[in-house]
This record gives sequence, C-alpha cells and structure tokens, in this order.
Amino acid sequence: MNRRDEMHSLTRRAFAHFKNGTTDQAEATMSMPIEAYADPGRYRREVNRIFLHLPLALALSIEIPAAGNYRAMQVLDVPVLLIRGTDGKARAFLNACRHRGARLCDPGAGSARVFTCPYHAWAYNDRGALVSRYAADTFGDVDHATHGLTELACAERAGLVWVLLTPGETFQIDEWLGEFVHELETLQLGQWSIFEQRELPGPGWKVALDGYLEAYHHNSLHGKTVGKHTVGNLLVLDTYGPHQRLAFGRRSLGELADTPESEWDPEKHIRLIHSTFPNLSISGILGDHCLVSQIFPGATADVTTTRQTVLVHTPPTTAEARAASEMFSAMVLQAVQDEDYKVGATIQGGIHTGANKAFVYGRNEPAVQNYHRTIARFMRD
Ligand code: FES
Ligand SMILES: [Fe+2]
Repeated sequence: MNRRDEMHSLTRRAFAHFKNGTTDQAEATMSMPIEAYADPGRYRREVNRIFLHLPLALALSIEIPAAGNYRAMQVLDVPVLLIRGTDGKARAFLNACRHRGARLCDPGAGSARVFTCPYHAWAYNDRGALVSRYAADTFGDVDHATHGLTELACAERAGLVWVLLTPGETFQIDEWLGEFVHELETLQLGQWSIFEQRELPGPGWKVALDGYLEAYHHNSLHGKTVGKHTVGNLLVLDTYGPHQRLAFGRRSLGELADTPESEWDPEKHIRLIHSTFPNLSISGILGDHCLVSQIFPGATADVTTTRQTVLVHTPPTTAEARAASEMFSAMVLQAVQDEDYKVGATIQGGIHTGANKAFVYGRNEPAVQNYHRTIARFMRD
C-alpha cells in the first residue's frame, strides 16, 4: 500500500471508531502480577536481558550530523560515546580510557578530531584507535592495535542511531526492525531540527511505559493538555513484531462525516505514535512538531529517566513560529511531567502496599498488553 492509501486506511479506521464510540481491542483483559512492577530481582533480570542485550535507539542521527560530532551519554550504568567518523559512519564506544578506565568525554555533545583522556592524556581518534600516549617513552610498550576504545555494535537506520550496550555482541538492524523500518522511514527524522531537549525523572520503567501505549487516559488525565486535541479512548493499532504503531484520532475527525473521502487530508485527523521496543516513542509527528521520548530504567525498579526531544519541522524564524514551538514544548512537558509521571509516582508509591496483587490491562489497551507479552517473550528466549 502506498503512503497515501495507508494514511487513508488509518483515517477510515479511526473515523469508524469515532462514529461508533469504539476502539481497537484485544481479545480479553489481561492481568499482570504486581511482582512484574516491583520485584527487584525480576527487575534486574529483565533490564539486563532487554536493555543490555537488544539494540536501543540511543540518539537521533541529527544529534551527530557531521563528521567529528560526538555525543557522550550514560545509558543505565554504561558510559557510551557516539562519534560520527570522518567517513560519515556513526560508531559507538564505551566512554572509558584503555589505560585505567577514566571517562574520556563528559556527558554532552561536541565536535572533535581527537579524544584525549583527562587523566594521563592518552588520545584516540574518531574510529576509537589509540593514536598517542603522553610520555610514551617513559611509560613503556603498549600495543596500540589492541588498546583502542572498546567498540559497541552500532547501526544507523531511519534517522536513528542504534546501539547494543554489551561489548562483543552484535545485531542485525534489519532483522530487528523488520517491516517497521519502512514505518520509521516515513517520519523522515533526518529532516527535522532539534528545538529542545531535556531529561525528566519519572516512575518505574513499566509504569512510565504503560502510559505511552494507550489513549484510554487521554480525556481524564490530559483534558487540559494533549487530550484537548485527541479523542480519548480511540486507538487504531498495528504491530510489527515487538514494535507498534498507534494512531490516535484528533477531535477534527467529526468533520469527515460531511467530506467525501477523496478530499480527506488524513494528516489533519489522526496522530501517529511509533513505539519501538523497548523504550522509544515518537509521537505527534503529523504537523510541525514531534516529540521523541527515550525512557531509560534507573538503578532501581521505581525510577526512570526520560530523555525528551522536541523536534520542529523547520527551525522557527519568526516570533510567532517560536511561540508556537514553545507552546508545543511546554504542553508536552506538562503532559508528561505534571500529568503522566505525577500519576505514575502515585502508582509507584502504592505498589508495595498490597492494594493490588495484580494490575489489569483492558481490552481497550491492546498495545499495553502487547508490550508486556513482548517482555515475557524475550525473557523466555
Ligand atoms: S586513564 Fe586515561 S590516560 Fe590514564
Ligand atoms: Fe499520557
């Protein structure tokens, strides 16, 4: 199906739900024992299996757009250094010197030809090769060929840089994304610009993630923010292996009743959320703004850090355009920080009380159900 037909088909499905007050549904409700959210041992095992042994989208390609650009970041307890080489290829390394392990670059972004360790000034190039050592003649012999930075498997697809956090392990990005790569490519992430980026503390991994995967809470929790624009409890869902594409309806869907389908402008009436397992959500891509959320588990089961990136289709040049982008950015910050994560904190705070032995996912929350089934599948494999 070409893109236009695909968008029309999604809009048709959303409009049908709008008219009938329905939504895509799972076969049945699903119950999840509370231990899945709270047990520390289970948490460690799941985070280890899922976050350390599956590819994660760690950055947008536009975060390291040019040769020599780098970005250093702490991901879970792994220090990562992403570098775009002079050959244009993005590579990932452990951000640790091979002399005695000092952190090479402070977290943040920049541009460099040579990466020099702050401790004793060993220096590495854009490919991670050890190129010089301070006072090498006094130090003694070191085989430079075996003392390059430790590389992590890295691939770039659909405007995202994917990395596997365990050294020595590899992945096939095309296998991992399957057909979903075409979905992600339609977003043309390489064409956007970063307007704002921030990190938000949030509730535990699963509590936080659940909120990205359903529209059931949109009217009640987000009535004053993102819910103003969407039809609550309306979801059109497509799955691609572990990944999911959610379509939410916009309030303007009602206008379609009087419009012949040939005149529909789908982009006005639905909003897509691309959810890549396990922790990336790209939301609201239609229109001029987009929110990219990466949710990273914290040291314990009850905390996460979310990296929120607001993208603009074109960097604002007028005061009016800047105000519109600022408004979008403030709205998504409020929705996530003051609504989703605020409620999430209350969930997290109550998990140990015995109020719930299990959480239940409704038939109208099929993407949440799929997410938890996918976790279970990887834990079995
Ligand atoms: S730890 Fe990096 S040069 Fe010594
Ligand atoms: Fe939400």
